[in-house]
Parts: sequence; structure tokens; C-alpha cells
Amino acid sequence: MTDLVIAFTLNGRLREVRTPAHRTLLDVLRDDLGVLEVKEGCGEGVCGTCTVLLDGEPVSSCLVLAPRAAGRRITTVRGLGDGDALHPLQEAFVAHGAAQCGFCIPGMILTACAFLEEHPAPSRDEIRQAIAGNLCRCTGYTKIIDAIASVAGRKTRG
Ligand code: FES
Ligand code: FES
Repeated sequence: MTDLVIAFTLNGRLREVRTPAHRTLLDVLRDDLGVLEVKEGCGEGVCGTCTVLLDGEPVSSCLVLAPRAAGRRITTVRGLGDGDALHPLQEAFVAHGAAQCGFCIPGMILTACAFLEEHPAPSRDEIRQAIAGNLCRCTGYTKIIDAIASVAGRKTRG
């Protein structure tokens, strides 16, 4: 099969890869570009650990074929901060002790980031629903929801 050359913007930087068309965006990011902050969990669209933002929308990169990224903007958790400064959500996760093993956290933060763009003052239930596709085996979610709610900038309802 002929390889394709795919160009996209990754965290503000233009990147180009040559790949067979059937490979996933997750594989290209991790195996070809060394973008190891994008985690591989289930590999079949269930756990959310592989979440990236594609033109600002969260997607499971294990379900996205690499050619779909052509000409688009990909953001990983590493692209959220501003140089040395953490993104407010990253700061909130640290401040609330919302990460334990940390494996789910990059995807969780990216999902939360896109959600808060659309819903700046959500209830706790809305936050819970928003992150329902991002599984965490460690935290029980309470501190994660606390962290996201703190960035939403208001006391959320129960
Ligand atoms: S690794 Fe993609 S959803 Fe689980
Ligand atoms: S912090 Fe371990 S899976 Fe979420």
C-alpha cells in the first residue's frame, strides 16, 4: 500500500509524517512523533485516555485514522499551557490532588478544557456527564470534578 504524507499542526508547530492510510492518529502521534503524553488505554474508543483536541474538539485518537488529521490543528495536554506556565486546569488538578497515577489525566484535562469553552458555568452533574467518556481507575472522580468546578469559577450545584 502506498504511504501518504500528512501535514498538520501539533501544539502550534507544523509536523509532517509519512504513513500508510490505515494507521490511527494515536499510533502516528506516539510511535512516529514520540508524543507520549497521549496515552493508549483500551485502543477501542472506550476509555478516553487517548483524547486529543482536533480543531478544538475532543476526539479519541485511537478511533481517528491518521489521514483525517491532514491540514488540521491537534492539541495535546502539552499544548495547553503557555511556555513555563501551566493551564488553569492543570494548576487546578495539582491544587486539588486530582491525579493519582496520572494515566487518565491528559485526556481528562483536554475533555474538560473543551467542555468549559462551551459551558463556562456548569453544574457538578454537567461536569460529571462531560467527563463520562474519560475513565479513571484511581480517584473516584470527586477531586477531578472539584478541580474542573474550581476553574469554572463558581460554586457548582450538587
Ligand atoms: S485508548 Fe482510545 S479510547 Fe481508550
Ligand atoms: S489518576 Fe489513575 S487512572 Fe485516573
